[in-house]
Amino acid sequence: MVCVMRRRSIFKKVEQWEIYNRIAGHDNYADVDKKFLPKERYDWTLLTEIELFRNAVKGCEKVLDIGCGTGHPSLYIAEDVRSIIGIDKSERMIETAKNRLKRSRIDNIIFKVEDAENLEFSSKSFDAIILCGSLASLSNKKKALQEIRRVLTKNGKVACIEANWLYQSMHERHFHGEGNFVLTEKGLIRYRYVRRSVRPRMETDYRCVINPNSVLGKKLLSNHHFLECKTLKTEMSIEEVEPYCDEIEYDEQENFDGETIARLFKENGFKDIVVSGYGIMYDLLNNTGLVNKMVSYMKELSKAEANISEVLDPLKTEMLFLTCKCS
Ligand SMILES: C[S@@+](CC[C@H](N)C(=O)[O-])C[C@H]1O[C@@H](n2cnc3c(N)ncnc32)[C@H](O)[C@@H]1O
Repeated sequence: MVCVMRRRSIFKKVEQWEIYNRIAGHDNYADVDKKFLPKERYDWTLLTEIELFRNAVKGCEKVLDIGCGTGHPSLYIAEDVRSIIGIDKSERMIETAKNRLKRSRIDNIIFKVEDAENLEFSSKSFDAIILCGSLASLSNKKKALQEIRRVLTKNGKVACIEANWLYQSMHERHFHGEGNFVLTEKGLIRYRYVRRSVRPRMETDYRCVINPNSVLGKKLLSNHHFLECKTLKTEMSIEEVEPYCDEIEYDEQENFDGETIARLFKENGFKDIVVSGYGIMYDLLNNTGLVNKMVSYMKELSKAEANISEVLDPLKTEMLFLTCKCS
């Protein structure tokens, strides 16, 4: 009898919200938190987002911000609507959002932990729903969109922002994997690898811990450049690194272009779908070297970009803005 020994699977899939829960209060989300008011923010794309959402929900009674994270954009558009509820599945994101709210003078927002795929609100509770970069991180988009339809009033509005996969794949991203070894402060060797596929438009992000006593671990720990810089880019794929790993955690994210995001909403019963683009102003001025000279006009420029977004070709912009109605 031949006995086949199978290697225990070391791959563990995690949901996107769990990753956000970990980074809440760290990297970019902490930065957003520090620069609390729009006038202090120097990211033109974020300012344009605020204007887009403001235009879309102005005058609404009850707005739901799904996947609100640390409170962007709710905290900036609160004065334009009667009330907002921001929900996120990550407790730590909501904790940060609540702290920001406390420091503001805003009194018409409530932030709470809730799952977009299983909302506690009764039917037809909101006349507008906004999603800022959160649709792509929802595990079951169909279920979330069903919930959105349920809690929206008839003809209630949806406004949604997502990164434009087509633009990003043209300008900065690669289809083959990107790998990086990192030596952490605690002496762990981590390996991060992002793989992107075209069909389906999926991005898989692997985070691994390398066994320090493995052949690869020993090799890295004797590499002076790695020990000095604490980071090393590599051509090694996840399959090549896997035998040297103790554990591999990964998450998956579906990517959108204008057509696929519009189709998703159409298939789930939404109407009057309009997809436009934004995120050109910063690139444009940066490429021409004018960006610093224009900083004092950033608010006006962002507003102008938000207002012309409908005529921008969503094939050529970094970000997508979709609006539609509940049928
Ligand atoms: C890209 S972040 C966007 C955060 C914020 N809207 C912003 O623009 O800064 C996506 C957010 O969606 C949240 N999220 C993911 N799955 C969720 C779910 N099932 N229910 C609620 N929130 C979820 C994550 O925790 C994360 O905070």
